[in-house]
Amino acid sequence: MIPASRLALTSALFWFLVANLLGVLMGLGALPLTWKPAHAHAQLLGFVSLMIYGVAYHALPRFRGVVFRRPGLALFQVGLANLGLLGMALGWGLAWGPTLWGVFAGVSAVAGLLFALLMLEVLWG
Ligand code: HEM
Ligand code: HEM
Repeated sequence: MIPASRLALTSALFWFLVANLLGVLMGLGALPLTWKPAHAHAQLLGFVSLMIYGVAYHALPRFRGVVFRRPGLALFQVGLANLGLLGMALGWGLAWGPTLWGVFAGVSAVAGLLFALLMLEVLWG
């Protein structure tokens, strides 16, 4: 397993636990509902998307029968995805305002684009 897969799968599990905790605290009223998008994206960009990245980096080259040529870039992509999500979640929860939130949202969007390009190269390159 390449380091990108291992980091993506490990951080997916980390986000799952964090997001569940945020959900429980919100449901109990210990955190305000301003944390709702942080919870939703920690589940969907964190747990779900990172789990998919981790499996896809391992599986797609094998489905296609090719060697994955860009493990370093994939590791960078997983780092970007985690950084972007961390900033988005804290930006929502702590009401950082649109500018700083937007910087991290941009990082998340770039991470998503990079993943799509890397996998398209595997599928069609
Ligand atoms: C321990 C497990 C979980 C707890 C305690 C929990 C709790 C909550 C709470 C309290 C809300 C706010 C509901 C409201 O609007 O009043 C919420 C919203 C949400 N949760 Fe969870 N949740 C859990 C797991 C999950 C999982 C596994 C996912 C997805 C994979 C998820 C996705 C969402 C989404 C997308 C919203 C926003 C829904 C909307 O737009 O109204 N949650 N959750
Ligand atoms: C670059 C990545 C993303 C950005 C910048 C982004 C941004 C946003 C914004 C601004 C909202 C409105 C939040 C609010 O209520 O104030 C939102 C809501 C939502 N997004 Fe995303 N999103 C991203 C990725 C995703 C992905 C990948 C999924 C699902 C797989 C997703 C699912 C949702 C859901 C379910 C809601 C409603 C949640 C709620 O009611 O709090 N988003 N998103």
